[in-house]
Amino acid sequence: MQAWVIGNWKQNPATSRDVDALLNDLVTALETQVPADTALSKNRCKLMIAPSCIHLAAVSTRLKDSSVLCAAQNISEHSASTGAYTGDCSAQQVADSGATWTLLGHSERRQYHKESHHSLVKKLSHALAQNLGVVLCIGETQTQYDDKQTLEVIDTQLSVIKDLLAQQPELVSSLSEQLIIAYEPVWAIGTGKVPTVEEVSKTHEHIKQTVAEFTKTTEGTTVLYGGSVNMANADAFAADPMIDGALVGGASLKAESFLAIANAFNQANTELV
Ligand code: PGA
Repeated sequence: MQAWVIGNWKQNPATSRDVDALLNDLVTALETQVPADTALSKNRCKLMIAPSCIHLAAVSTRLKDSSVLCAAQNISEHSASTGAYTGDCSAQQVADSGATWTLLGHSERRQYHKESHHSLVKKLSHALAQNLGVVLCIGETQTQYDDKQTLEVIDTQLSVIKDLLAQQPELVSSLSEQLIIAYEPVWAIGTGKVPTVEEVSKTHEHIKQTVAEFTKTTEGTTVLYGGSVNMANADAFAADPMIDGALVGGASLKAESFLAIANAFNQANTELV
């Protein structure tokens, strides 16, 4: 299975100068610190960075000659055309910036921007229409976890895919290469608290089964874990075959920790090959 490690920079870093410094660290480490014959250089684990919208073009340009992909963190639900949507960034504008993927449905967007099921179906459709891959983020809150509602919550969140296909069955072929699911329990994001690997593994198994029931092209969909992944716990997550990689927030803001997490998934994958 192809592993993925994706850095979600959120509203970081503060300045374009800091963005340059972080990218330089990352690219230099990839070019010089990885010996030519290691698994990382053979690109077993794909890397992707999701900077904030204002930095998308600069990051895409800087990463153009590297193996690292660039993603947006969101796109406008009003992406069908240009127009009077102040503050929005369309799927077309994101694609034009050089990004090839977008995150969608991150819990911070669901929480602070009231992102709804209906708007996510629209965003998915717009992203795929512009040939952008989608990293669809799902996950339960602490209360839902305590009430043992995790699977119910994620089934509802995953049903955006089913609803999209009901509206636009022609998109079915796009989904095999252009959909990644990121399971991120809200209570684990930025808190240092993580579920056990066994819990994540079981939930991932459920996610894989659920999306496989939607259509043939979503069989074998990549499912990443996100929420307080760091250098110390990455090995344990990487060792579980149900966990295909990580969506990393805080630890993606330093090249050293981001690449250490990527290496954990490389090592695990290499052993499986
Ligand atoms: P975290 O964030 O790694 O800082 O917990 C993950 C995310 O929100 O994608």
